[in-house]
Amino acid sequence: MPHIRFAGVEKSYGAVRVLPPLDLELEDGEFTVLVGPSGCGKSTTLRMLAGLESLSGGEIYFDDRPISGLEPKDRDLAMVFQDYALYPHMNIARNMSFALRLQRNSKAEIEEKVGRVAKMLNIAHLLDRKPAELSGGQRQRVAMGRALVRNSSTFLFDEPLSNLDAKLRAKMRTELAEMRDTLDKNMVYVTHDQIEAMTLGDRIVVMSEGVIQQQGSPEELFKTPANRFVAGFIGSPTMNFLEAELTAAGDVLSVQGDGFTLPLADALKARLSGHASKAVTIGIRPSAFSTELTNAAPIDLHLAVSEYLGAHSVLVTRCGDAEILVEHDSASPMKAGVTMTFGVKPEDIMVFDKETGLTL
Ligand SMILES: Nc1ncnc2c1ncn2[C@@H]1O[C@H](COP(=O)(O)OP(=O)(O)OP(=O)(O)O)[C@@H](O)[C@H]1O
Ligand SMILES: [Mg+2]
Repeated sequence: MPHIRFAGVEKSYGAVRVLPPLDLELEDGEFTVLVGPSGCGKSTTLRMLAGLESLSGGEIYFDDRPISGLEPKDRDLAMVFQDYALYPHMNIARNMSFALRLQRNSKAEIEEKVGRVAKMLNIAHLLDRKPAELSGGQRQRVAMGRALVRNSSTFLFDEPLSNLDAKLRAKMRTELAEMRDTLDKNMVYVTHDQIEAMTLGDRIVVMSEGVIQQQGSPEELFKTPANRFVAGFIGSPTMNFLEAELTAAGDVLSVQGDGFTLPLADALKARLSGHASKAVTIGIRPSAFSTELTNAAPIDLHLAVSEYLGAHSVLVTRCGDAEILVEHDSASPMKAGVTMTFGVKPEDIMVFDKETGLTL
């Protein structure tokens, strides 16, 4: 498997710059997820790696070999496209075996591989049909199967689950996670769904407007986001943000805003001590609010709506003018229209520079 490296890779369409110089390294055998909002340049990055888009600058290396001059077929990659692009006149079995037939694999070998992958993807009963006779989700699985039968060193996936219903999506996510653990391959997976990113990625690369915001393990991104964008993008329901000011009183550093004063954790003091009365944005995850007030600072929230989701409810509350989402155990329901005191532990408060958005 090659070690893949993007060095100062740029992409412009005419005068429109989509990717400013981008540096990215993909470790051997890693499952890397590129995640970010629509239009941030994920597919473009993947298509340049596959050789389907030219580079406007920079170079991509497999180990130490520059590959931008190589045809897609010479890159030892298998790609699943966002718009699955199946051959309409071929049945599913032939669609899936296309690359294997080009490589002149034996008939028995082709049948064995296609059969095994089709079974895994739950499309074995569809092998004689044409793509037009399949649902969108089924076609998407065929597109995935067509890539998986190949013996490539690197698999590229562009939103391969986007047309599946929620249940099938969850199932395929599990299948992919299993595959990730059994296949020792490079996988680069593009999605705008942070849950998919979190459950699949060994490493997640968060992008916004062509720029890598942060890369790391799911846990690193969740626990130590580099900036407000990553903090708000990773985690569901999304993190709450409140405008505040840092205030120092004796030995205690707090954040103070409209309707709340919350002390910060000791670990933050050293980093923030020089910034008293600085304008900041604080971030608190919906799961960090508790009705348990020991070892926690109180904050009064006015409950507007309670959204029942099964075991948990999401409470839509107000604090001053800000809306705050709170994750709450459905077993003890709360009435809308009342003001409740919740506890927040100092270590559950993140502080961001209001101007730059960087984590302080
Ligand atoms: N052929 C093109 N000509 C001009 N602009 C393009 C072209 N292809 C893509 N773009 C622009 O490049 C940007 C990045 O597109 P890209 O397809 O990489 O986004 P994406 O992150 O994959 O988004 P999505 O999640 O919607 O698939 C977008 O702003 C898009 O409008
Ligand atoms: Mg895309």
